[in-house]
Amino acid sequence: MEIVKLKDLYFKKYIKREEIADVVKRLAYQIKHDLPENEVPIFIGILNGCFMFVGDFIREFEGNCEVSFVKLASYSGTESTSNVKQLIGVNEDLTGRTVIILEDIIDTGNTLQEIYEIFKHQPIKQLKIATLFFKPDVYKKELHIDYIGKNIEDRFIVGYGLDYDEYGRNLDSIYQLTPAPKMKNIVLFGPPGAGKGTQASSLKEKYDLIHISTGDVFRFNIKNETELGKLAKTYIDRGDLVPDEVTIKMLESEVEKYENPKGFIFDGFPRTISQADALDKFLAKKGERINGMVALEVPQDLLVKRLLERGKTSGRSDDQDESKIRNRFEEYETKTAPLKHYYEKQNNYYGVDGVGSIEDITNRLSDVFDKL
Ligand code: IMP
Ligand code: MG
Repeated sequence: MEIVKLKDLYFKKYIKREEIADVVKRLAYQIKHDLPENEVPIFIGILNGCFMFVGDFIREFEGNCEVSFVKLASYSGTESTSNVKQLIGVNEDLTGRTVIILEDIIDTGNTLQEIYEIFKHQPIKQLKIATLFFKPDVYKKELHIDYIGKNIEDRFIVGYGLDYDEYGRNLDSIYQLTPAPKMKNIVLFGPPGAGKGTQASSLKEKYDLIHISTGDVFRFNIKNETELGKLAKTYIDRGDLVPDEVTIKMLESEVEKYENPKGFIFDGFPRTISQADALDKFLAKKGERINGMVALEVPQDLLVKRLLERGKTSGRSDDQDESKIRNRFEEYETKTAPLKHYYEKQNNYYGVDGVGSIEDITNRLSDVFDKL
């Protein structure tokens, strides 16, 4: 997931979970290393944003330690407000203790100042401050920060415990505020016989989108003997599946053909998680994303009837044998289930009832397209 939408705003992947894990590990090591041997520190996390950081941090911390939390609030929306409030204090006896504050992020430093005021009158041995993220360009206080996980630029971030209006805390990477995408990009899905082709052609007119059917792209490239077409053909001739890399490149070059498109309807692509990931990354480079996977849902028995009917007139042998048809559904189900899950996880899966007249179904699809 490269660009996420939270409420009215968009955020782009900024710091990957692996990098966060490295930073946390390094902080835990440094802090342990600087403590006198056998010193048992008490870590105090600043809720809510720090919960993931503290959870990971104390697992990386080697040696005995205690953990406690305070809760303060200073933010609503994306602008820092100056009225920082204390909500919950620490109840432990801190006399003679080494107290280490764990902050998820220090921005203006207002919250930190507040925390400092709470602890400075306590008969503790020493107070240290550690923050996972720090925005050096906005920090306005004199207070020394002992440990900084990573300096970041002054742009609002979410994920790994940090929120935008309470959303985004559960993201495992850090995402940064980004301008709203301009395109409407839709992955259209549906089992064989669901009426995808028919619907795609009216929807592309209605929304001024470009319909990219992978089948057509393959045939075009092979027929015109493009480099990628020739490459794809070597696999097809051997009876092998065309590798994701080749398919993705073909799709990318297809997308690049258009200047200032309003968006695309992807049909027959992505077919695998790795294709979906590649598509996400490719679009994110342009500041764009997949707005949604829209899937036509039709009961199998009805599809079988429709296809058998079609087989009578089209002469397509694969439409004439019920067991062959059922096999294709089986394949569709097993292949698309992971993709459905992939987009569901992003809150980006939209199932649409594919039973009814063509117009009815177009209207149902339009209701979804309008929202995306
Ligand atoms: P400060 O008081 O300006 O240093 O901000 C402290 C608090 O504001 C942090 O503990 C966060 O809860 C919140 N905050 C500051 N910057 C961000 C951000 O980029 N994303 C999410 N929350 C932030
Ligand atoms: Mg905080």
